[in-house]
Amino acid sequence: MKKILTTKKIRKNKVKEGHTPLQMLTCYDYQNARLLDETELDLILVGDSLGNVILGYETTVEVTINEMEIFCSAVKRGAQNTFVVGDLPFGTYSTLNSALENATHLFQKSKVEAIKLEGAFPHHLEIVERLTQVGIPVMGHIGLTPQSIHQLGGYYVHGKKAETAKAIMKQAKDLQEAGVFALVLECVDAKLSQEITETLSIPTIGIGSGSQTDGQVLVLNDLLHLGPEAPPPICRPITNLYQVKKQFIEGYLAGQKEVTKEQPTLH
Ligand code: KIV
Repeated sequence: MKKILTTKKIRKNKVKEGHTPLQMLTCYDYQNARLLDETELDLILVGDSLGNVILGYETTVEVTINEMEIFCSAVKRGAQNTFVVGDLPFGTYSTLNSALENATHLFQKSKVEAIKLEGAFPHHLEIVERLTQVGIPVMGHIGLTPQSIHQLGGYYVHGKKAETAKAIMKQAKDLQEAGVFALVLECVDAKLSQEITETLSIPTIGIGSGSQTDGQVLVLNDLLHLGPEAPPPICRPITNLYQVKKQFIEGYLAGQKEVTKEQPTLH
């Protein structure tokens, strides 16, 4: 049986020190969590991307702490041997007090091993410090931070210009200093991602940020093409389960039209 990772082990997982890259996938439900738990996957993220792919919201801004608790708990019930990270949703960590209250609630009730939050402003750093002090491991997330999409004004690559690259490098160092055990780099310029990865002592986990990070994270629903629309360009799907499922269901419905069709029953 696979052995669950610890923050102590994850912290040391640097490719430059000979470790293999960390693999993280999102998951939002019990059955897929059982499946992922049977694989060699290192980390599961119950991302607030569930707002888009499960709940059909337009952005992750709409996701609430109650919804995160339901999905994190379901995943943790299925993935007992995999390190699970749960996202703190928008608006639940705007102040230190609300962050402490909401992170404690999610961590305690759902039993995830860590929480993730977006941003690296001074108040985020203070929150990271306090949460780690009270025993809640925190994963950071910088670059494209979807909870701030209206503030950012769209989806684009971050850190292409020297000035923004310098600011993002500082955010990465500040978050490491504040205590995060790993850092997600979303849509960060590939060269800058490599530089951040070389600079930090904690692992970087990239998405749409090139290949030179200490790990990769993808949205499972994009990887398996579970939705009706093509996944975003930062994910190359390995199949099209939407079409596969549709064909099976259409085949089943066509077969049901035969009136004499035998139906399974309880014995
Ligand atoms: O919510 C999410 O799925 C995420 C990943 C894209 C990193 O934050």
